[in-house]
Amino acid sequence: MDKKITVVGAGNVGATVARLLADKGLGDIVLLDVVEGLPEGKALDLVESAPMLKKDVHLLGTNDYKDTKGSNLVIITAGLPRKPGMSRDDLLMTNMKIMTSVTEQIVRYSPNCILIIVSNPLDAMCQVAFEVSRFPKQRVIGMAGVLDSARFCAFISMELNVSVENINAMVLGGHGDSMVPLPRYSTVAGIPVTELMTAERLEGLIDRTRKGGAEIVNLLKTGSAFYAPAASAVEMAESILKDSRKLLPCTAYLEGEYEIEKLFIGVPVILSARGIEKIVQLNLNKEEQAALNQSAAAVQELVNVIHQAKS
Ligand code: NAI
Ligand code: 2OP
Repeated sequence: MDKKITVVGAGNVGATVARLLADKGLGDIVLLDVVEGLPEGKALDLVESAPMLKKDVHLLGTNDYKDTKGSNLVIITAGLPRKPGMSRDDLLMTNMKIMTSVTEQIVRYSPNCILIIVSNPLDAMCQVAFEVSRFPKQRVIGMAGVLDSARFCAFISMELNVSVENINAMVLGGHGDSMVPLPRYSTVAGIPVTELMTAERLEGLIDRTRKGGAEIVNLLKTGSAFYAPAASAVEMAESILKDSRKLLPCTAYLEGEYEIEKLFIGVPVILSARGIEKIVQLNLNKEEQAALNQSAAAVQELVNVIHQAKS
C-alpha cells in the first residue's frame, strides 16, 4: 500500500513540497491549509500536471483534518514566514499557537506518524510539536541543517566553480544567526575545503551561509525562501519513506549528546523508516563545541519564552 503523506500549510513551502513529493511518486499526498479553497486549488492544479509528468498523482487538497487520518508522515509548514527586517525569532508567539493547534489535530488523526517540522523559529517549533504530540523523540524531526548545508554547498560550488555533485558540507546548530557551519567536515571530492581556498574567503562563505535566509527575504520582500527549503524537507521525507538511512543534518532532541540536555538542535542523524534511527556523534574541537553551545543557548532562550507563555 502507498504511504500517506500530509503537508500542513499550502503556502510557498508546503505547495512546493507537495509538488516535489508528487514528482518523485513518494506516496498519496494530502495538502491541508486553513484558507478555504487554497489547498483544493493548488492540489487540483498539481493533479492537472500529471499528464505531463506521465505519472498518476494522488493528491487531495482539504481544510479538514479528517482527510489526514492514518498519515505515515506529516510535514508541517503552517505559519507566518519572515518579512524584511524580521528575524525568524520574531515569528515565535504566532507560530507557537499555530504549531500547537496543528499538532493537536494531526496527533488526533495520525497518532503513529513521523513529524517533520519546517515552520520557524524552527528549533523552538520542534519543541512545541514534541511537547504537544508527546511523541517519542525519534518521531519529531526538524528541517534546517539540510537547507543550511545546501546553501553552504552552493556557495562553495560558486566560489570554486566546481559541480555541487562533488561537494559535501555540514552545518549544525540552531536555525538562526548562530548556526555552526563546519569547514572541517566540508569537502570537495573528499578534499577539505580548508585546503582549497583562503581562510578569509571561507569565512566569507560561512557568513553568507549564516545569513542565507535573510539574503533571500531581502530580495523577495514579501516572504522567505521556498524552493531549497522544500527540496530539503523532501530529501528528509524520502529517506524516511524509502528507509534509505541517509546521514543528514537534522534538528533532533538531544539528551546529553554533544553535551546538550533536553533541547532540539541540528546534529547529524541517520533517517530511517523509524524516524531518527541514530544521532551521529562527531569529535568536535574546542571552538566548534563552543560555537554549538552558543547556538544551543540562543535556542534555549526561545524555549524559555515558550515555557513562560504556557505557565
Ligand atoms: P506561506 O505564508 O507561503 O505559507 C504558510 C501557510 O500556512 C499559509 O498558506 C497559511 O494559510 C498556512 N497556515 C497558517 N496558519 C495555519 C493553520 N493553523 N493551519 C494550517 N495552515 C495554516 O509561508 P512559507 O513561505 O510557506 O513558510 C512557511 C513556514 O516555514 C514559515 O514559518 C517559514 O518561516 C518557515 N520556513 C522554514 C524554513 C526552515 O529552514 N526551517 C525555510 C523556509 C521557511
Ligand atoms: C530560511 O532560512 C526563512 O528559515 C528560512 O530561508
